[in-house]
Amino acid sequence: MKIPNLPISFVDSPARRAGSALRDDTTCHASRPHRSPGTRSVREVQIKGVINKGIQELVEQRFGADVWQRVKAAAGCDEPFFATSEDYPDESTVALVRAIAGVTEIPAETVQVEFGRFWVPHTGRAAYPSFYGLAGHTPREFLRNLDRIHRQVTRSLRNAVPPRFVCEETDADAMRIHYYSQRGLCRVLEGLILGVGDLFDQELRVREIGCVHQGDDHCTMEVEF
Ligand code: HEM
Repeated sequence: MKIPNLPISFVDSPARRAGSALRDDTTCHASRPHRSPGTRSVREVQIKGVINKGIQELVEQRFGADVWQRVKAAAGCDEPFFATSEDYPDESTVALVRAIAGVTEIPAETVQVEFGRFWVPHTGRAAYPSFYGLAGHTPREFLRNLDRIHRQVTRSLRNAVPPRFVCEETDADAMRIHYYSQRGLCRVLEGLILGVGDLFDQELRVREIGCVHQGDDHCTMEVEF
């Protein structure tokens, strides 16, 4: 499976430095063109509100409502709230992550990992309790089901562009997750995997062994249980 486009990225990648990914004029403005996925240009990819909602919850819980207001202002965001299944431009998420990094002086990559780690046991669990109930009883089972979960949960969501995952069983204590996405959110993915460990009170170790931002076809995470 090959995903050739990298329309957006949170990381300071070679692609970004070449000007194809993160731009300096990203803001949170949710001008939301509703076209079918097939007709969207790379600059118009939408992401579901459950992502931005998680960013808001993380900031409010860790830093308080005042800091969230400062983050929103810095991101040029005038959304009163984020609706879970509504479309928001990927750029809005990029703008928020950047604004958090600016306001809190935490590196943007750390913000992404922390966001992913927070999202799984908090925002995701609250938004999709039935999927969590079915996803498995161990971190390994949960991660094995990632692809199925994303296909099922986005089946009924208009304009969804879900990531794809292929799990490779490498060892009794380890597995590889191959991540295919137009977005290349590998730092967020790292945090999400750690968050799956947190869900089961287990500390996982995650190492990226292949990355689209280094020219690979897709990102590959090695997970040790
Ligand atoms: C039951 C749990 C989960 C549900 C219901 C869920 C659902 C979703 C939804 C609705 C989106 C937005 C898709 C779109 O806008 O097109 C998304 C994005 C994403 N999810 Fe999940 N998710 C879950 C758990 C996880 C976990 C555990 C991981 C990784 C370990 C993960 C990785 C991602 C990534 C990386 C994205 C960003 C989109 C992209 O890369 O293209 N998700 N998820």
